[in-house]
Amino acid sequence: MSIKKIGILGAGRAGTALARAAAAGGIDVNIAGSRPPRMMKYHLAQYAPKAQAVEASEIADDVELVVLMVPQEELDDLNPETLSGILLVDATNRWQDEPIPSWLENALDRGLTSSEALSEHFSGSRIVKSLNHISHWDMDTDRGSKAASQRALAIASDSSEDSQVIAELVEQLGFCAVQLPKLSYGKYLEPDSEIFNEVLGHMELLRRIDASRGA
Ligand SMILES: NC(=O)c1ccc[n+]([C@@H]2O[C@H](COP(=O)([O-])OP(=O)(O)OC[C@H]3O[C@@H](n4cnc5c(N)ncnc54)[C@H](OP(=O)(O)O)[C@@H]3O)[C@@H](O)[C@H]2O)c1
Repeated sequence: MSIKKIGILGAGRAGTALARAAAAGGIDVNIAGSRPPRMMKYHLAQYAPKAQAVEASEIADDVELVVLMVPQEELDDLNPETLSGILLVDATNRWQDEPIPSWLENALDRGLTSSEALSEHFSGSRIVKSLNHISHWDMDTDRGSKAASQRALAIASDSSEDSQVIAELVEQLGFCAVQLPKLSYGKYLEPDSEIFNEVLGHMELLRRIDASRGA
């Protein structure tokens, strides 16, 4: 199975880097920001020329999955209804004291990981955590190299089926997919974790996650 078309919600540094990598991997991309498509024309011509701009409300239409790449503080502006039924890759991170929506803050206080919190909030979507622990810079510079094909990108999911789809996406992007058995493992992918922004092969990534778990 290969991925043919994805949606990317967020057309900033991360979203456009992913769009470029996806295009290089033969994947069609629909992309949306907070601005209407006509206002992204010049931005996309420069940063993601092969991507098709769409309205944010239409990002889940006619794609196999959507990658969420908007700042966490903007999550309240997204309508969960528009993402209902879709496989949604949470590629977001919280930066230091970035303000976040109260539902997210409350869920974190209850001990949920950020992706578990998103799973509650976007309850009609199937959430997978991935693509958040590589910088937009590395997504561009490593892409297509031998080093990239050995660079491990983790996928945390409660569903082996969904995890497999994202593993296929990661491989098509030119990286090495490492599937983790639970969505809650997403916390080992976040800023300040042992693997965040680190260039690691499969075995070393797993070793660091095991060490973080105390396994
Ligand atoms: N930068 C990285 O290397 C990197 C890597 C992995 C993950 N991430 C994560 O990805 C997320 C985005 O980071 P970034 O660096 O790409 O930020 P950024 O450059 O500031 O871009 C943010 C994007 O989100 C869009 N956006 C904001 N509110 C929106 C809404 N309500 N609906 C649709 N789009 C909306 C913005 O659209 P407009 O410009 O039209 O407002 C913009 O395109 C963050 O959570 C970050 O932690 C970043």
